[in-house]
Amino acid sequence: MNCDNLSFIKRSHQAVWHPCTQMKAQESLPPLAVSRGEGIWLYDYEGKRYLDAISSWWVNLFGHCHPFINAALTAQLNTLEHAMLAGLTHEPVIRLSERLSEKTGGSLGHCFYGSDGSSATEIALKMSVHYWQNRGRPGKTRFISLEKGYHGETIGALSVTDVPMFRQAYSSMLRPNLIVQSPDSRLAQSGETAQGPVQRALLDLEKTLKKHHDSVAAFIVEPLVQGAAGMVMYPAEYLKAAGELCRQFQVHFIADEIAVGFGRTGTFFACEQAGVIPDLLCLSKGITGGYLPLSVVLSSDDIFSAFYDVRLNKGFLHSHSYTGNALACAAANAVLDLFEQAAVLQDNQIKAARMNELCIPIKDHPDVRHFRHMGMIWAFEVKSDRPGFSDWFHEQAKQKELLIRPIGHSVYFMPPYIINEEDMHHLVNGVMEILAL
Ligand SMILES: Cc1ncc(COP(=O)(O)O)c(C=O)c1O
Repeated sequence: MNCDNLSFIKRSHQAVWHPCTQMKAQESLPPLAVSRGEGIWLYDYEGKRYLDAISSWWVNLFGHCHPFINAALTAQLNTLEHAMLAGLTHEPVIRLSERLSEKTGGSLGHCFYGSDGSSATEIALKMSVHYWQNRGRPGKTRFISLEKGYHGETIGALSVTDVPMFRQAYSSMLRPNLIVQSPDSRLAQSGETAQGPVQRALLDLEKTLKKHHDSVAAFIVEPLVQGAAGMVMYPAEYLKAAGELCRQFQVHFIADEIAVGFGRTGTFFACEQAGVIPDLLCLSKGITGGYLPLSVVLSSDDIFSAFYDVRLNKGFLHSHSYTGNALACAAANAVLDLFEQAAVLQDNQIKAARMNELCIPIKDHPDVRHFRHMGMIWAFEVKSDRPGFSDWFHEQAKQKELLIRPIGHSVYFMPPYIINEEDMHHLVNGVMEILAL
């Protein structure tokens, strides 16, 4: 398609209200108009390419326009695009539910679908409170979440999100909840290992649970990596001990694996590394490989059985038109097929080891702090006095054919799993050139 870039951007600016964006800033920093995607690359209308180093907000696990997912969607499109899930059911949703449950070893055997990450959080929070009501403990209505945690921006999800920028304007609409210390490994004091912040955070969680467990329904956590906080990483020991504390104090453990599920931390689910099985597991983002909006909350038999009753009001009530959309489920099944057809997690280990070698110059750069890596995520802080560092870096990255969107001063890579040796060189060399500016 031929396109006059300037008029295109002008039309977009007038008609499209972008997320996580101050629209006025677009006067000087217009969005990149993307014409197509192929593999790890996005292309603009002038034919320039950009390596999608952040998998388009962490969703495109296998890159763009993947032939296998395309074919699966085309086949589904010609069979059944959508049918409401109240009173009806279909093969793609049944198959997906069975396969996801299997991935939890059958521990979480009941799948409830939403359309995006925030709605998965809402579903999990509502399910937890309603569970306690059905079990005769209506006083358990509050939630505990981590400092700097992010679980989405709808009202319930924002109530357990601790990012002041996102909360400020809406604070009057939010429910009061309890925030506990993050086990952020960067908080280790000199001479301390990453266990130091873990122990302090666990003490804080234990103290909070001891005091408030009667009024607390659930503890919600991003396992191993607090993404929106700037790829904050922490050891699996925290998750394991937090899971045990939750059991001890009869508080649900909600694992928000919306960002980290589907292999991002090196295991299919991040919780596997801690050997912990949550009561509720939230998934979205990578679930359809970036093709269609879909989310799901998996629950244990215990949770499910609390709703199993002849009375409708005892059942879980969250009615959403697109629940279990057949096309989205077909895309998700295709993503699971890709995991089964190749040794994706093992291949990622090899890729990650190579990427770590290539990243040594970044790690050793004098302006770089806290270089960290887990699975297919790399992050580091850049010491810089530049005002608007994040926008500046993003723009410089575009000049180097890279799509990177730092969170504050935290630069991170979360590339599609199809990244190859040449792509890795392109990414690391581009970033080194930006760091030299
Ligand atoms: C851990 C986590 N939970 C929830 C969400 C919200 O997902 P969505 O943006 O699809 O609403 C996100 C989004 O970044 C996330 O990272």
